[in-house]
Amino acid sequence: MPKPILVFDSGIGGLTILEEIKQVLPDERYIYLFDNARLPYGELSEQTLIDGCVSLITKFIKLNPVSMVVIACNTASTLILPALRAELDIPIVGVVPAVKPAAVLSKRKHIGLLATPGTIKRTYTHELITQFADNCKVELYGSSELVLLAEQKAAGLLVTKDQIARILQPLLDSEIDTLVLGCTHFPILRDEMQAYLGEAVSLVDSGKAIAARVVNLIEQQAYIEQKEVGSINELNETTKNTAFYTSDSVGVGLKTTLISFGLTVISKVNL
Ligand code: DGL
Repeated sequence: MPKPILVFDSGIGGLTILEEIKQVLPDERYIYLFDNARLPYGELSEQTLIDGCVSLITKFIKLNPVSMVVIACNTASTLILPALRAELDIPIVGVVPAVKPAAVLSKRKHIGLLATPGTIKRTYTHELITQFADNCKVELYGSSELVLLAEQKAAGLLVTKDQIARILQPLLDSEIDTLVLGCTHFPILRDEMQAYLGEAVSLVDSGKAIAARVVNLIEQQAYIEQKEVGSINELNETTKNTAFYTSDSVGVGLKTTLISFGLTVISKVNL
């Protein structure tokens, strides 16, 4: 049976990427690993973030072999990919804030990038803007509070309009017409954000682009496997998709959300 695809994030944000991948690859098996003991990643120092992620993912994969790793976290992707690629010999896909499509989409050439404080600070992000949005005025906003609000929603708790307004008010005042959701947690609050910002602001994320990249890699892998072993007609065994967390426990609300994303086995990571 083919090995599962590992989707990784600090918390529930990667579920938005998992969902996009599952839309196009519904028959693959998935493991969702989230490092909620160390969330929010946007507040960690660069070295702490790199060391922790590389150690967790490499140890995890030794015990749970996977076919590829999707780092469904912008904050981690801006930093850990080279170190992780040096350790693993399977494909690793990262998430890039959708600055390029946003710059194309923006009519007024005035866009916002909403991400974690870590992502906003990174050289990687600034290079991305220079490369793809040089013709735009770009407003940068970092918020870990919004990450925690997305977690709050996923835990089944109410997120109020006031909480959203307090964070997004500078964006509303800036008169941007396009906003990059540069953190995978933020699409969880898409409806709340769109309601506050109004339809004049388009929200753009990178979920579909990541899913397309995964499809591409799966097709390449299938081609290589076919060449190596000839055509094998395996029965499409259905094994459950699993979620692993790093905190001591998770609440009922979060478990319900994970189940609603098709992750029917949920357990603490054991390394
Ligand atoms: N979901 C993550 C991202 O895309 C990180 C959120 C956090 O832990 O700060 O950046």
